[in-house]
Amino acid sequence: MNSPVSQFNLQQDVCLQAFNTLSLPARAEYFCVINDLKQLDQALGFAKDKQLKITPLGEGSNLVLAGDIKGLVIVINLKGKEYKQLDSDRVQVAFAAGENWHDSVAYCLQQGFYGLENLALIPGTVGAAPIQNIGAYGVELSDFFVSLTAVEIATGELLQLTAKDCEFAYRSSIFKQSALDKYIIVSVCFQLSTVPNINADYPVLKTELKGAKPTPDLLFETVCRIRQSKLPDPAQIPNVGSFFKNPVVPTSQVNTLLSDYPTMPNYPQSQNLSKIPAAWLIEHCGYKGHRQGNVGVHDKQALVLVNFQGDGAELLALAKRIEEDVMAKFAIQLEIEPRIYGDYL
Ligand code: EPU
Repeated sequence: MNSPVSQFNLQQDVCLQAFNTLSLPARAEYFCVINDLKQLDQALGFAKDKQLKITPLGEGSNLVLAGDIKGLVIVINLKGKEYKQLDSDRVQVAFAAGENWHDSVAYCLQQGFYGLENLALIPGTVGAAPIQNIGAYGVELSDFFVSLTAVEIATGELLQLTAKDCEFAYRSSIFKQSALDKYIIVSVCFQLSTVPNINADYPVLKTELKGAKPTPDLLFETVCRIRQSKLPDPAQIPNVGSFFKNPVVPTSQVNTLLSDYPTMPNYPQSQNLSKIPAAWLIEHCGYKGHRQGNVGVHDKQALVLVNFQGDGAELLALAKRIEEDVMAKFAIQLEIEPRIYGDYL
C-alpha cells in the first residue's frame, strides 16, 4: 500500500506541541516521521542499537504529554487504502495507519461502503483508532473491525491480529492492556456493507432526526453537526475529546444516587451494572465552563478538558481536582481515558 523507499530522517530534541491536539509543549529526545515500512524498519533498527524506548504517534489526539519523552518518537505517516468486494452486499476496506480517520469515513461513504457514519469527525488516525476502540453515537470501531497488521517492536516482524486477538472493550483493547507498547499498528481492515446499514438509536440522534430513518449521508451530516455543536475543534481549542471514561457502577449505587438526583442519566449495561455519563457528574460538581489558570473544562461538554496554553502538569492537576470532587460528592472514581506520558501526580 505504501510507495517505495525513502530515507529515514532523524531529528533530536524536537518540540511536540504541533504533534498533539492538546498542544502541550513537551519535547522528544529523538524524533522521526515515517512514510513507508522501510523507514519504520530503519527507525526501529536505530532505536534497538541505541536501546531507545519507542513512542509511536498518530495525530496525537488521545494523549497527554505530561513531560518530555525520552527515546524515539515515531510519527506514523503511512498512507494508502484498498478494498475488495466479498459479495453483493459486503466489502472489506483496509487503510494504512497514517490515514486520517474522518477522511477515511468520508471515503467509505463516497464509495457506498456503509457502517462508519456514526464515527464521523472523530479526530486522529486510522492506526490509533483500535487502541481505544473509538466509539460514538451507538457505534464502536469493533462493530466493523476485521483485523489489523502490526509490527512487533521487539522483533520487527509483521503480524496480523484478529478482532478476538485485540480484546476490544469500551474505550479499550489489548493495546492499552497486556500489549501496551509492544506493537506499531500499520494498517487496519474493516468489513462494511454496500447496502445502507443505519444505526440511529442513540438518543441525541433520534432527537435530531425526529425519529425518521435517515440515509447514510444524512446520518453522517447529522453526526457531524452534533459533534460540531458540542465538541471543540482541537485546531481552535486544544483538547483530546472525552478526558474520562463514563463510569460503570453497580445498579444499587445508581438507585441510591437517583433518590438524591432523580434526573441523573444512567444506562443499564447488564442486570447489575449501569453507566453514568461522567459529563453529568462533572457538571454537577460545578466544573462546566470552569477555568483554572491556563486550562479548563469546555463550556458545552463537561467531559472535555481544554488547554489555553498550559502544560501537562497543569492539566493533570485540574483532572485530579475533578476526580477528587466527583469522588467526594458521588463516591464514584473517574478513570482518565487518554494515554498519559510522563508522571501523573
Ligand atoms: N451531559 C451532561 N453535561 C454535559 C454533557 C453531557 O450532563 O456537559 C450528559 C447528558 O445527560 C447527556 C449525557 O451526558 O445525555 C451523554 O452525553 P453525550 O451524548 O454528549 O456523550 P458522552 O457520554 O459525554 C460519549 C463518548 C464520546 C462520544 C459521545 C457520543 C465516552 C468517554 N465519550 O460522551 O466520545 O462522542 O458519547 O456517543 O464514552 C471521546 O471518546 O473522545 C468522545 C468524544
